[in-house]
Amino acid sequence: MITKPIKRTFIYSILTILILLTYRHTTNKMSSKTLLNLKKPVVVIGSGLAGLTASNRLVSKYNIPVVLLDKASSMGGNSIKASSGINGAGTITQEHLQVRDSPELFLEDTIKSAKGSGVQPLMYKLTKDSKSAIAWLQDEFDLKLDLLARLGGHSQPRTHRSSGKLPPGYEIISKLSSKLKDLQKENPKLVDIKLNSKVVDVALNDKGAVSSVKYVDEQGSEHDLETSNVVFASGGFGFSKEMLNKYAPHLINLPTTNGQQTTGDGQILLENLGAKMIDMSQIQVHPTGFIDPKNRDNNWKFLAAEALRGLGGILLNPLTGKRFVNELTTRDEVTAAIQKQCDKYNNITLLVMSEKVYENYKNNMDFYISQNLIKKTTIGQMVQDFKLPITENEIINDLQTFSSSDFIDPFGRSSIINTFGDNLKEESTVYVGEVTPVVHFTMGGAQINEKSQVIGNDGTALAPGLYAAGEVSGGVHGSNRLGGSSLLECVVFGRTAADNIASLF
Ligand SMILES: Cc1cc2nc3c(=O)[nH]c(=O)nc-3n(C[C@H](O)[C@H](O)[C@H](O)COP(=O)(O)OP(=O)(O)OC[C@H]3O[C@@H](n4cnc5c(N)ncnc54)[C@H](O)[C@@H]3O)c2cc1C
Ligand SMILES: *[C@@H]1O[C@H](CO)[C@@H](O)[C@H](O)[C@H]1NC(C)=O
Repeated sequence: MITKPIKRTFIYSILTILILLTYRHTTNKMSSKTLLNLKKPVVVIGSGLAGLTASNRLVSKYNIPVVLLDKASSMGGNSIKASSGINGAGTITQEHLQVRDSPELFLEDTIKSAKGSGVQPLMYKLTKDSKSAIAWLQDEFDLKLDLLARLGGHSQPRTHRSSGKLPPGYEIISKLSSKLKDLQKENPKLVDIKLNSKVVDVALNDKGAVSSVKYVDEQGSEHDLETSNVVFASGGFGFSKEMLNKYAPHLINLPTTNGQQTTGDGQILLENLGAKMIDMSQIQVHPTGFIDPKNRDNNWKFLAAEALRGLGGILLNPLTGKRFVNELTTRDEVTAAIQKQCDKYNNITLLVMSEKVYENYKNNMDFYISQNLIKKTTIGQMVQDFKLPITENEIINDLQTFSSSDFIDPFGRSSIINTFGDNLKEESTVYVGEVTPVVHFTMGGAQINEKSQVIGNDGTALAPGLYAAGEVSGGVHGSNRLGGSSLLECVVFGRTAADNIASLF
């Protein structure tokens, strides 16, 4: 039997608990609601992989509203052009393919390639987080990333791409941009994508924190967005002659693989805000960009993928009709050889490929041929077209010796030079493109820390709410970026920026 007072106490306590629960519930609801109303959207500048990574993470993981600005009329920046893939060490794909890799090995390769420049804690973070970056792309965006390549400077195959026809940059950007658009459909308040919107200023308030972003729309009107957080994801500066002239004047005459939007706007704005700039003169030149016969002087060049040489392509000097370099040595050495040997032919060299190379790389070759960047021709026609100072028979003889079992390359090339076979005639098919060195990637930028915060000249975070990720940032690669590591930096530091913003939101 329960006595009356106890019964009453019992009922009272139940009531109190209920009242408390209701109260907590409503205040919680109220405070998060008011908070959301008070918090301004994060402004992300640039819709390449770094910007799309930060935006997706902010919206889908944290429900934090984002305004994504891009001055171009379509999304994807240079990221959409990426053709080799994205690095990761210790990934599920590597496990399946029985590649024994580790973040430690990847870090060693990265530090070696950086040649003493850059910031090692950033390299440590890049390599340590690479596994979860790949897993995030696979899990959240359904990207297979099931194939691996081993690019120059890597001690293991760790550059991921998906089986299928889509090049990796295009595939990754498509998935991330459509996911963001889906999130926008679900909740239009959380995602605002503004294209043709060029950021021209970022302002700090009197406390030194981020306060607003100014952009110019298609009609030329200026707009101010109030915000406490901005992520610079505006890419490199390889297309800008002014920037090249300032930081690497010896490269000013080189064309580039970078899109015309790649003008270093972010680097300029950040430097004006007081950011510490690092490694700005470190610029990666790729030895082979295609000359488009219809537009030979265009500053923009289509990249002639390294695979064309890797699968058997050779370089012939148009001035001699002879090879002059190990086509598979490092990018800087191939470039130097072209500039030394082919100087009198405008630093242009001939990339010559066999029927075997065509068969092994058919999708890509068909594309290059459709764009007139590679011509299917004969040995005899090639000699005529390029007025090579050498007879058909001499060339045939050279190409055939590459396949003889006792051939030792005087330039030190050890692999896959023998694809032309030993039964050549004047009418035998070859594939020929004209190529020249191109500005490809800018290693330097605004220095960031391991939280993706932009740092000032004193080494500490420059301003609350100021972040950068991707090619606009510097310190991750030192003097030389490893192939596959720039897409990776976009994901690692784009995610980190989002996580850090969320932790302080
Ligand atoms: C042909 C080619 C192939 C490559 N292949 C690979 C590869 O296989 N693997 C790899 O890891 N890397 C590769 N790279 C390098 C890599 O693609 C880029 O370094 C990387 O994608 C940069 O990404 P991001 O997000 O920092 O910048 P981007 O993808 O270039 O995006 C920057 C965006 O910011 C916008 N923007 C700039 N200024 C403003 C402004 N003021 N206001 C608003 N918007 C602005 C631009 O319009 C652009 O859309 C390749 C590069 C090229 C050119
Ligand atoms: C070839 O490249 C070298 C090195 O960049 C440069 O000095 C030279 O002027 C170039 N030659 C031509 C004809 O452009």
